Amino acid sequence: MTVSFSRAAKRGKRRAGIAGRRKKEKKRIYRAAVIGCGRIGSLLERDRLRPHPCTHAGYYGFHERTKIVAGCDLRQDRLEEFGRRWKVPPSRLFKKYQDLLSVVKPEIVSVATYTESHCEIVVAAARAGAKIILCEKPMARSLREADQMIRTCRRSGTLLVIHHERRWHPNYRAVRKAIQSGLLGEIRTVVGNVLTSEPRRDWHANPAVSGGGPTLHDGTHLFDAIRYLCGEIVSLRGETERKDPKARVEDTGRAWMVLENGARAFVECGGRREYFNFEIDIQGTRGRIVIGNAVYRAWTLGPSPRYEGFVEFSETAPPPPLLPDTFPFIVEEILEAYEEGRASISSGEDGREALRCVLGVYGRARIGSGFAE
Ligand SMILES: NC(=O)c1ccc[n+]([C@@H]2O[C@H](COP(=O)([O-])OP(=O)(O)OC[C@H]3O[C@@H](n4cnc5c(N)ncnc54)[C@H](O)[C@@H]3O)[C@@H](O)[C@H]2O)c1
Repeated sequence: MTVSFSRAAKRGKRRAGIAGRRKKEKKRIYRAAVIGCGRIGSLLERDRLRPHPCTHAGYYGFHERTKIVAGCDLRQDRLEEFGRRWKVPPSRLFKKYQDLLSVVKPEIVSVATYTESHCEIVVAAARAGAKIILCEKPMARSLREADQMIRTCRRSGTLLVIHHERRWHPNYRAVRKAIQSGLLGEIRTVVGNVLTSEPRRDWHANPAVSGGGPTLHDGTHLFDAIRYLCGEIVSLRGETERKDPKARVEDTGRAWMVLENGARAFVECGGRREYFNFEIDIQGTRGRIVIGNAVYRAWTLGPSPRYEGFVEFSETAPPPPLLPDTFPFIVEEILEAYEEGRASISSGEDGREALRCVLGVYGRARIGSGFAE
């Protein structure tokens, strides 16, 4: 399979001494292990409506340069299903990630467990010699954990990648390129939402395990996508809300932000809805794009059909995708980043920044002056 790379993905600093690695490792097959064989680790492949592959195991099972060699989960039933689906023998299925790391020594490790163990497993995998770690979002529960993950991976030369998957999506990449080329003029207003039902009553509702409610669980994607598309968030003020005063995580979070170019942004996460919706509405001085899970539309300027002498938005085709599909590109881009000795387009530092925004909403981090004049 051949996937063309955008120039953006080819940019980035090369680490000293490893620039020639790509040539040497070009044909190499990487041995991958998945820790956490739940929904995003493997089970979502059961969903017939999704494009496939759509899980960590799916990525490695599908890509010609990766091979799934082991799995780990606390639950026996999930391990057995993982073994059956990906043809991993029982001797390579583990209940303790420590055993997997020491016995198998995988080159790629996916961390798809609850948020509480992301830091501990990433640190252990890096120390055990993993070359690439693909860690689920949210990266961690605190900036202290995120910093430890980044620091440990830097020391061991491990490429740390956070699975904010929209960064690899062809439509999001096309929108980023369109914005950078000035198609919308100067970005002035961004409104994003990830609206969903109340937090599930499982591990999601326990902040010690999940780290927080929907502002963290889903909002991390929103903050990350806004940064990716529109630039740094330099000031943030937030609020949380919970209908049930006994609930241990919020059901709604909101943030008002200032972006680096002075644009204003607003996001809402959770919101006790009877549906799921993710979208970002980006308005510039000369155009508008709305992109989300169920929407992809664009407008540029045209003469008003209603009022003489007025200029209005006129709907146009959105920017064409740069790549054929998302998921092969994730593995492709990660391998290329590792072999070229550069950061992935979804680095540990990017994951930390999204986390910092969420913690800003929770009042546990300060971003800029809190709000702008
Ligand atoms: N990027 C995305 O779009 C996306 C989608 C879904 C979930 N996620 C994230 O992925 C992570 C997992 O979510 P999920 O929905 O797959 O949850 P899940 O409950 O379906 O699966 C998690 C699995 O991890 C296992 N596990 C937990 N702790 C473990 C440990 N210490 N060692 C080994 N196994 C362990 C559990 O037994 C479970 O099977 C969360 O961080 C979540 O936010 C991301």
